[in-house]
Order: sequence, then C-alpha cells, then structure tokens
Amino acid sequence: MPFDRIFLDELSARNDIVEVVSQYVQLKKSGMNYFGLCPFHNEKTASFSVSPDKQIFHCFGCGAGGGVLTFVMKAEGLTFPDAVHFLAARAGIPVPAQGEADRQAARQRERLYALCKDAARFYYDTLWQPQSRAAQQYFLSRGLHRRTMNRFGLGYAPDSFHALLDAMTAKGYTREELQQAGLVSKSEKGHLYDRFRGRAMFPIIDVRGNVIAFGGRVLDDSKPKYLNSPETPIFHKSRNLFALNLSKTTKSDYFILAEGYMDVIALHQAGFDSAVASLGTALTEEQARIIARHTGRIVISYDADGAGQSAAQRAIDILKKCDLQVKVLKIPGAKDPDEFIKAKGADAFRNLIERSEDHNAYRLEQIAAKYDLEDDEARVLFLRDAARMLAGIDSSIEREVYAGRAAKMAGVTPEAMGVEVRREQNIRRKKRRAAERREIRSPIGLAQPKDRSLAYTDIRSAKAEENVLRLLFSDQKLIAGMETALPPVWFSAPVLRKIYERVLSLDRDGQIVDILSFEGWLEPNEMSLLSGILEPGLPPGEHRQELAEYIDTIRMQRIKDGTLTKAGEDPLLTFGRIKKTKRGRTMI
Ligand code: CTP
Ligand code: MN
Repeated sequence: MPFDRIFLDELSARNDIVEVVSQYVQLKKSGMNYFGLCPFHNEKTASFSVSPDKQIFHCFGCGAGGGVLTFVMKAEGLTFPDAVHFLAARAGIPVPAQGEADRQAARQRERLYALCKDAARFYYDTLWQPQSRAAQQYFLSRGLHRRTMNRFGLGYAPDSFHALLDAMTAKGYTREELQQAGLVSKSEKGHLYDRFRGRAMFPIIDVRGNVIAFGGRVLDDSKPKYLNSPETPIFHKSRNLFALNLSKTTKSDYFILAEGYMDVIALHQAGFDSAVASLGTALTEEQARIIARHTGRIVISYDADGAGQSAAQRAIDILKKCDLQVKVLKIPGAKDPDEFIKAKGADAFRNLIERSEDHNAYRLEQIAAKYDLEDDEARVLFLRDAARMLAGIDSSIEREVYAGRAAKMAGVTPEAMGVEVRREQNIRRKKRRAAERREIRSPIGLAQPKDRSLAYTDIRSAKAEENVLRLLFSDQKLIAGMETALPPVWFSAPVLRKIYERVLSLDRDGQIVDILSFEGWLEPNEMSLLSGILEPGLPPGEHRQELAEYIDTIRMQRIKDGTLTKAGEDPLLTFGRIKKTKRGRTMI
C-alpha cells in the first residue's frame, strides 16, 4: 500500500464519511443509514446511501460506491494520492513521507515528465530547421502566427524511424522510458521505432504545465489524420483537457469546449483564451468535473456535422450533472470553429457566442428540425416529442419557459403544452417506478454487477463468492483457515477472486480487512461492486455455518463445470458424493 495504514486510519477517523459526503449531498437519516440524491447520476428519488458504521457509500441507482477516499476521488475528479492529500488538508493533518515503492513511482514519473519535455523541445527544434519547410508551411497555411505556435509549443516529428529514439537515448533516457512515455512503439520482431513520424506535433500539457503526451497530425490527407499518445503513467486521456494549462488563468467567466486541437488553437489566437478540447474522445465525467472547478458556465462549440451535434447532446448531459450552465453554439456556414474564425473573423465568432442558446433551446430546435411545423399532423408529433424532452428538465421554472417556447413554435396555447408535459412527466414517473420494481423482483438483474464488464458467468457461484466476502469483511476471525477451505482458484468471478486474494494476504500480514484497505487499490468499477456487496451488512450472530454452506455451493459449481475432480474420479460421481455428505451435514 502506498500510504501507511496507521496514517490512513487517522485520515479516515478525521474524515467521517457522513460529514464529507454532506458537503456535497443533502443527507437524511433513515434507520442505520443516511440517504440522499446521488451526485454521480441524475435522479429524483434518493437511492444514494451512506453507512456510518461501515464507512461506505453506495448508490442503488447507478451502482457507484466505495469508501470516503473513493467518494472524494469521484466527486473531485482526483487520483487516489490526490484524494489522500485533499482529505489530509481538510482534517489539517500532514501526509507522512511515502514508502520506497511510492518514491520510486514518483521518480519514474519525474523522469517521464522530463523526457516528454525534452521530446517536445526536440520536435520544436526540428520544426524550425530548414529541412522542415513543409511543416512550417503547413502551420502557416492554417493561419497560425509564429507567436501562437510557440505558445502551444508546436513542433514537427521528422519522417524517420529513429530520430527521436537516437536523440533521447543520447540524452540519457533509456529505451524503457521512451516506451513507457509512449514515444516509441515495438515492432513484432521487438525493434523499437519512433511512434510519431512526419507529423505536425501538438504537445498535451497538464494543468501544472508538464508535457504529458502528444497529438500528431499528418501534413496531407493520409490516414490516420491524428495519432495520439497512448495511456501512460503520466497521461490519462479521460482526466485531461487540451489547453487547460492556458485556459485556467482566463478572465472570461465562461469556458469554450471544442472538439479539436486546431479549433482550440485558432480560438486562443483569436482572443478566446478559455477554449479547451476533450482530446478527441467523447467528453468524460472526470473532464466535466475538472471544467466545473474552473468555471460555472460553458459554451459547447463542436463541429457542425452530425457527429459533432450528437456529441454535443451527450456532452450537455454530462456537463449538466456538474451543475454547469450550458450553452450550445451553432456555427453557420463552416465545419468547425477553426474554419469559421478563419473565414469570418473573431468578432463574428464573438457574436455567435453572444447569440448561443441555452441547451434547452438548442435541444428544442434539434427536435423541431425533424418536423415540418406547417403540417398539422407533424405539429402534433413535434409537441409529443418536445414534451418528452421538457418533462426531463428538473427546474420547474426552466420547464415552464421552454414549454412556452415550444407552444409558440407549434402554434398552440401554453396550457395545451403544459397538459402534454405533465402527461409525459407522469409517464416518466411510472416508468421509473416500474423499473425500480422490476429490478428488485428480478433475481438475475439484481445478481449481475451494474458494470457489464464485470458480468458473472456463473451467477450461483458468484453469489456465494459475494456472500463469502461479505462474511469475511464483517468478521475477520472467519478468515483463519480459508486458504485451504476455499482456494482462490475456485472462484468463478475474476474480480471477486482478486478481492478474496487480497483479503487473505492482508489477514496473513496481520492487517485490517476493511474498505479502506481496498481504496486506491481496486478500479472504481470494482470498488463500486465491493461496496454493493458490503452494503447490506449482516445480522449479528454466529456465521460459521453460513460460510460453510457458501463454500460448499462454490465447490459444487466447480465440480459441475468440471474444474474440480478428485484425481481419477468421474466428476459426476464426485458431484453425487458431495451431495450426500451435504445431506449428512458432515462438511469441512
Ligand atoms: N482526432 C483523433 N484522431 C483522429 C481524428 C480526430 O484523435 N483520427 C481528434 C483530434 O483531437 C482532433 C479532434 O478529434 O483534433 C477533432 O477531429 P477533427 O474534427 O477531424 O479534427 P480537426 O481538429 O478539425 O482537424 P483538422 O482541422 O486538423 O483537419
Ligand atoms: Mn474539426
């Protein structure tokens, strides 16, 4: 564990989960637990619970869950170490010097930062050499000034398989480090070669000013147009925004969210110094939370094509979750902000921003565009469609305003529109209740992890495995002897086995087995699964018999699927024998 357990105990004691969560969510006590509206998904009924005695949170709606550190990681968009520092600062306690493993990881990261910076320098120098005229010409032809290019540290990767490799190894970086930084790739035969060749280079810089990755664009129409760095120890695509290092100091009270590198650079050059881009992926929730830390208002300025518009629709939902005021820009007569500014200038773009519409108006228009509002029948369909969208607006005032607007568009009275919206709201409410009931009734739906990537292949076994974990977490004394009674290889679900193995090893080392010892160690989706398993808790009492039964269920499942037989014994015979012993209650 990167942080000392004694310190983590102190940290968690000083940051009670109920108090921490209360700073983000209004909680109400009900029985042993607290409940509130989940901050991680949109909901109207409280399905988010916090357990003070287990120090966990869990949402029955979206499945998110974990301990206090996981909560802070999710709510603030922080990494595990940053969440530790965040809570230490909150409690006013110092973070102790970290262990050797951690210092080594920190040293590795420092090396990679230095390497990426040197690589950026190399690409920059290469760009301004006489033989890179074509690349210089390329940037200039796209309307970039020399000053802008320097501000963004733009460069050029020479068309060579080893130019960067040679230059960086000459500087003392190892081949491993070059690979870890994602700057070189390995061929099938095991040769390393430069990842970026013959490309215009855009360094990706984190909020602290470190170069952490690159995007490289071809100078012509060949494919792929852009090539980006892979995920590395210092680059997590979903947690970074292009140009945030520059935009964070803007005086503007809104941010502009664009799709591409060139859009952002063109925007900055035209004086819009609060433009960022989501690095060629769909905007992630983490990115949205980062934006929300810097501004309360955002203008989405995506490409005008269909892909850009549907990406905008998705981005609206994600940004609204972070309580941002969202507007959407329409770019007439150009494919993206870059092209628009180049053709019409900065003032015209400022005009677009001023006229950009609230996301609700934008959505209404997107809906209206599907219908011919001159036609009576189509108008009825439009009303229905619009009412469905309006019914999803949380604020009643906003709903009223846009219902009025939709009524005008369709030429009906606001009252008529209101009736339609309320009807849709009722339908929504009923659907939600039905879904909730269905989920509770269906054993399979409830049995499977919310995250499909963790889906169980053997539900009966996995449920028993979950129950074993719940028992071991609630009473650590039960762990003694488990290694032989239930070998980890008998587990059917890889994620549960991973948790079980850690439970065993923590116990072997005399460590405490609780949610805290898993924070920062499990992936967020795995953590959510674990919190869901632990949430129900156990009635007090003796649990050895129960544990024995779960182990037996798992063993039977392994015999059934043929992974477990006594040497030379027919699996079916073994199956029969164990059934008999079970009836005779002579187990373990
Ligand atoms: N992108 C990517 N890989 C691709 C294509 C696009 O990573 N093969 C990302 C890049 O970050 C790019 C953004 O998606 O900037 C938007 O794509 P697109 O609109 O095609 O790029 P533009 O920035 O408009 O590119 P350009 O103007 O240079 O043609
Ligand atoms: Mn584009």
